Amino acid sequence: MQLKNRIALITGGARGIGRGIAQACLEAGAKVMIADLPGRDTDWRYKLAGSEELARTIAELASVGTIQSTTVNVTDAQSCEAAVKATVAAFGGVDVLVNNAGIVDSGPISTFTEAQWDRIFAVNTKGIFLMSQAALAALRNSKNAVIVNTASIAGKQGFANMSAYCGSKFAAIGITQSLAHELAKDGIRVNAICPGMVGTAMWLDHLLPTNATDTAGKDADFEAMMKRMIPLGRPQTPADMGQAVVYLASAPNVTGVALSVAGGYEMA
Ligand code: NAI
Repeated sequence: MQLKNRIALITGGARGIGRGIAQACLEAGAKVMIADLPGRDTDWRYKLAGSEELARTIAELASVGTIQSTTVNVTDAQSCEAAVKATVAAFGGVDVLVNNAGIVDSGPISTFTEAQWDRIFAVNTKGIFLMSQAALAALRNSKNAVIVNTASIAGKQGFANMSAYCGSKFAAIGITQSLAHELAKDGIRVNAICPGMVGTAMWLDHLLPTNATDTAGKDADFEAMMKRMIPLGRPQTPADMGQAVVYLASAPNVTGVALSVAGGYEMA
């Protein structure tokens, strides 16, 4: 029970990696608030989560531990403040802030739109700033506070047609290191995880080159591609990411780290 009685607020917690982090935190004894977009956002390249997924995840994880949900749009300062307020009201504070909400889009620089670029940076980069700022007072009140940002292996190396996403994730690592320096005096540690390839909506509904239209076919193509690419021969899972977050949230002398969890695909 490495996180016994600590309070974790996880953005983008309705599904995917955020859900895996929520489950791992619950299993480690934390009280968990998952936060995600309020409604179905149809305005992006693939479907993002909303209150439906929040409710489903709460129902699925309720037997594991104490979990509640709230809505948040991490690109909006007031919404971030409201999510922190809801967490403090529900559980009495915030000890572990996981800035996990993120979006991806890809395409050549020649045709990539300014709107795509701005939205990626608004969620993946400014979202970390706004949520961290909103949670700062609560984190300063905690005796054992940590921020864990979900960056990416795309924050350590560039990929063609991914300049916006990679730029936003390099920035996430820079913010992690800066805040680790800045908040050390407050006893607040700041770390990042760098997931490798996890078969979530980002991959299955957007990045994966596949002709399959059904879930089973997409899953099979994803598994086969990752088996070829990744030294350990398998894609990463939300549970892998949860394990890494629990470690970074509980290791008392670790700050400023960007931990790759990528089966050897990225070793820096
Ligand atoms: P996902 O699409 O399943 O999860 C992202 C979550 O963020 C969704 O629930 C979505 O509704 C939420 N979200 C999006 N915009 C938001 C906003 N403005 N405010 C609040 N919530 C918002 O995808 P996945 O893979 O679980 O992504 C989680 C994080 O992991 C992201 O930061 C992503 O960039 C990162 N990541 C994912 C990798 C992968 O292979 N799937 C690899 C490396 C990093």
